[in-house]
Amino acid sequence: MKIKKAVVPVAGLGTRFLPATKAIPKEMLTIVDRPTIQYIVEEIVASGIKEIVLVTASGKSAIENHFDYSFELETFLGQKGKWDLLREVRHISSLIEVVSVRQKEPLGLGHAVKVTESVVGNEPFVVVLGDDMVDAEVPCVFQMLRVFEKFQESVVAVQKVSPEETHNYGIVEGEEVADRVYKVSRLIEKPAPGTTRSNLAIIGRYVLRPEIYGCLARTLPGVGGEIQLTDALDSLRRERELYAYAFVGKRYDAGDKFGYLQATVNFALEHPELGGRFKEYLKRLVSEFKD
Ligand code: UTP
Repeated sequence: MKIKKAVVPVAGLGTRFLPATKAIPKEMLTIVDRPTIQYIVEEIVASGIKEIVLVTASGKSAIENHFDYSFELETFLGQKGKWDLLREVRHISSLIEVVSVRQKEPLGLGHAVKVTESVVGNEPFVVVLGDDMVDAEVPCVFQMLRVFEKFQESVVAVQKVSPEETHNYGIVEGEEVADRVYKVSRLIEKPAPGTTRSNLAIIGRYVLRPEIYGCLARTLPGVGGEIQLTDALDSLRRERELYAYAFVGKRYDAGDKFGYLQATVNFALEHPELGGRFKEYLKRLVSEFKD
């Protein structure tokens, strides 16, 4: 079954990044020369999906505008003969169809996914968090679609974290059934220290079968009073098989100040025009630290 739609929730308040996010959505904060959300959408497009369902809230219109045509700007660039810039600003909008769904209150990630039911309908879909970046040779979403194709069941992306960090994540317990693929036996959102031996942490990429909507409808508020997607996934794995996939790549939480800095350094080093200069700059900086 071909997956056509990607749900991208961007309705959170971004409180970890205040005051920057008071008037600007965190997904619009720039990593080198593009907003975070553009990296996310580029990964989705590179994985073969063109229909994007944005879950938005008030104050997030900049994200919708970023993926829309900008008549004034494009006319201006055309008149000035700035063709490279024109191509650049048009490129991503020309590749995708965007539909927006409003999440009226930030009731949690599970709730953000639930409000997309009428748009997604009865078909499997991908969920990619708007502030979770993965740098990988093979796009992370594409890697996950391959696992879905094989098992035809929902898949969550995981990475190994240290035992001290497990309480910050949704944690998956399960048995490895293929290279990097685990059959999930339990999920726990932000487990208290010492309550799980697993260190497989869920990150912001999911391939979900439509049965998740029924599970979300039955999910009560959990940790933090929010409707947790992890809790709905734990119900789903009681009904059908659920898999976790330890993707190949580096993940950055760009919704967190430190994660954002790490992502900026990483993507700056990889930038085709700036990477070389930036590397030299870092080397100089490191040698100054040593002195
Ligand atoms: P986060 O927990 O990282 O987002 O959710 P947040 O609530 O904005 O962050 P802080 O903790 O206040 O800084 C992960 C993703 O899910 C979306 C967020 O926009 C983010 O992309 N989200 C979260 C929603 O769309 N709705 C929600 O109710 C919660």
